[in-house]
Amino acid sequence: MPNRPTMRTYAPRRDTVARSAARQPAAYRPAADHATAEVLAPYVIREEPYYLAVADEVDLYEAAYSVRMPMMLKGPTGCGKTRFVEYMAWKLGKPLITVSCNEDMTASDLVGRFLLDADGTRWQDGPLAAAARHGAICYLDEVVEARQDTTVVIHPLTDARRVLPLEKKGELIEAHPDFQVVISYNPGYQSLMKDLKQSTKQRFGALDFNYPEHEVEAEIVAHESGVGIDIAKNLVHIAERARNLKGHGLDEGLSTRMLIYAGSLIANGVPALAACRVALVRPITDDPDMRDALDSAVTTYF
Ligand SMILES: Nc1ncnc2c1ncn2[C@@H]1O[C@H](COP(=O)(O)OP(=O)(O)O)[C@@H](O)[C@H]1O
Ligand SMILES: [Mg+2]
Repeated sequence: MPNRPTMRTYAPRRDTVARSAARQPAAYRPAADHATAEVLAPYVIREEPYYLAVADEVDLYEAAYSVRMPMMLKGPTGCGKTRFVEYMAWKLGKPLITVSCNEDMTASDLVGRFLLDADGTRWQDGPLAAAARHGAICYLDEVVEARQDTTVVIHPLTDARRVLPLEKKGELIEAHPDFQVVISYNPGYQSLMKDLKQSTKQRFGALDFNYPEHEVEAEIVAHESGVGIDIAKNLVHIAERARNLKGHGLDEGLSTRMLIYAGSLIANGVPALAACRVALVRPITDDPDMRDALDSAVTTYF
C-alpha cells in the first residue's frame, strides 16, 4: 500500500477536534447492582488516555456506539488502534475489557468455564461473558490471531440477537444494553489461514487506521517519548522513508510505536544514531541491504 498519511480525509481534522472537545465526556457511573459494580471496577478507565484525533473517527465511533454497532478497527500494527479504544471507552464512560487474542485461545477462554474449588464447582464468566452480562465494551485485540472456531463465539452477540449461549452452563445471556464488541485487525497480515471469515467480517462496521500525518505523528511521538518536537519530526521523516519501502523488501512500515521507543531512548540520553538502530532498524528487518537503506535514512536526519 502506498504511504498515504490517512485514509479518512474527508472531514477536516481541526473541525472534528474542536467539535469533540466541545462535548463533555460521559462520566462513568458505577452500576447500582453491587455484584456488577465489583466485576467491572478493574476495567473502568478513570483518567483520560492521551489520544490525538486523526480525522473524524471519534464522532463516527460515538455514532456506532449509539446504535451498539460492533466495530472493527483496521490498520497496521502500532498506529493507535488500542489507544483509540481506550480513549473512546473513557469518553463514553464505559468499562473496557480487553482480550489479546492468540492461537491457543479457546472458546472457553472467552466464554467461561467451571472451576473446582473447596465447595465444589463454580462457574467463572470469561471476559466476553462478563462484558455481555454486566455491560462493558469487549475489545478483542488482534482478532485474527485467534482460530476461526474461537472467533465464531462472538456471532450471536454481533447480530440482532445480542445473546451469548453458555452451553456448558445451560444459560443464555442476553447482552446488557451498554455491551459492545470491538475487534482490531491488521489487513497486512492477511493470509488464507489467518483471515476472518466473511460471516464474521460482515457483522461489523469498520474504521480504517493508518499512521497519522506528519505533524500529528510528530506531536504524538514528542508527547509520548519526551523528546523535543524537532527530533520527533526527524523520527517521523525516517519512518516515512521506511514506509515507502513497504512491499519493496519490508513487510510492514515503521510504526508510531517504534518511533516512540526510539524517542524514549533518545530522551534518556542514548545517542540518536544508536537509538534509531536499536528501536527502528534492527527489529524490522534482517536483510543486510534493507538495513543499509534504513541506516542511511537515519544518517540523513541525525
Ligand atoms: N492518535 C494517537 N494519539 C495518541 N497516541 C497515539 C496515537 N496513535 C498512536 N499513538 C501512540 O502509539 C502507541 C501505539 O499505538 P497502539 O494503540 O498500541 O497501536 P495498535 O493498537 O494500532 O497496534 C500508543 O501507545 C500511543 O502512545
Ligand atoms: Mg493494539
